[in-house]
Amino acid sequence: MVNSAPSQSSEGDCITLSRYVLHDLKSFSQPAQDLSALMNRIALAGKLISRRLSRAGILEGVLGFTGETNVQGESVKRMDVYANDIFISVFKESGLVCRLASEEMDQPYYIPENCPIGRYTLLMDPIDGSSNIDTNLNVGSIFSIRQQQGEQIDGEGNDLLQDGHQQIGAGYILYGASTMLVYSLGNGVHSFTLDPSLGEFILAEENVKIPESGSIYSLNEGNFWQWEDSIREYVRYVHRQDGYSARYGGALVGDFHRILQQGGVFLYPGTVNKPEGKLRLLYETVPLAFLVEQAGGKASTGTQRLMDVVPDRLHARAPLVIGSPRSVELVESFHQQSTSQSQQPAMADQ
Ligand code: AHG
Ligand code: MN
Ligand code: MN
Repeated sequence: MVNSAPSQSSEGDCITLSRYVLHDLKSFSQPAQDLSALMNRIALAGKLISRRLSRAGILEGVLGFTGETNVQGESVKRMDVYANDIFISVFKESGLVCRLASEEMDQPYYIPENCPIGRYTLLMDPIDGSSNIDTNLNVGSIFSIRQQQGEQIDGEGNDLLQDGHQQIGAGYILYGASTMLVYSLGNGVHSFTLDPSLGEFILAEENVKIPESGSIYSLNEGNFWQWEDSIREYVRYVHRQDGYSARYGGALVGDFHRILQQGGVFLYPGTVNKPEGKLRLLYETVPLAFLVEQAGGKASTGTQRLMDVVPDRLHARAPLVIGSPRSVELVESFHQQSTSQSQQPAMADQ
């Protein structure tokens, strides 16, 4: 009998998310088991949301708005509510997460029965890109894991107003042609694809690295005249170069996933009316900043490293420039130029 190692493909077929997380953490300790279980619950939420989205056109009550507005003042979609409830329900009686903070909820949701043991807070954007749902385009979920510090936490979650370095993990689920889960617990970025026949997320790529630079730029150019000069100058520069491609899908998770794989930059700059931009620090930009840095990329507000930003309130927003390190630096150089020009005597147009 020949005793050979399993082939790459048959081995790859059985590397499930829960198995991989323990390998990733290089430990079978209780904290590692807890994080593995926590990731498994996030994956379960992802499977439930994915299942509902895949039948959106044939099930009652999936598409469309609820008629309510959320704490952000945005119209709430039925899938926003469903996904938010799913994340809460998968963590009830889990002993893993003491509270969840979400883009869709005014204040954090406490699960008191978990609090004596569950020292984690899960922050999430349950459905990102929800305007894509009714046209059967990709959406996502974004999550961030923080360890609770101290015994006392107030009901409003003021202890969450800390920088992104407090995260112990972050990731997203992309509901696209297939459903993918991409995460980092601080040891690189790893991606998984849902095999619907098994109901398991299977390892697609470990240690994902973002290209140093890329030809894709991704932003909503409909806002061109609302941006500050530096962003307009950057876009004019790109238009004059050969080889750039614009790609914008209207869902951050999908647009970011493309940049992570292929390189380039995603931007959501501030506008005249909203200098802080649209995207939320705790639920959207800071989790992706954690992830992109783990993949060798960069994330900034244009002038400051995003991981260093301390939100002044739970639902605070900030401009986002994220992607390949050289591509992000290029955008930042336009900010620096405009700052130095505003400090110098006016120069003639070139
Ligand atoms: P959400 O659906 O969670 O509110 O997020 C929508 C965000 C983000 O996914 C996307 O990149 C951006 O809004 C698109 O905004 P514009 O329509 O202004 O381009
Ligand atoms: Mn979002
Ligand atoms: Mn959302």
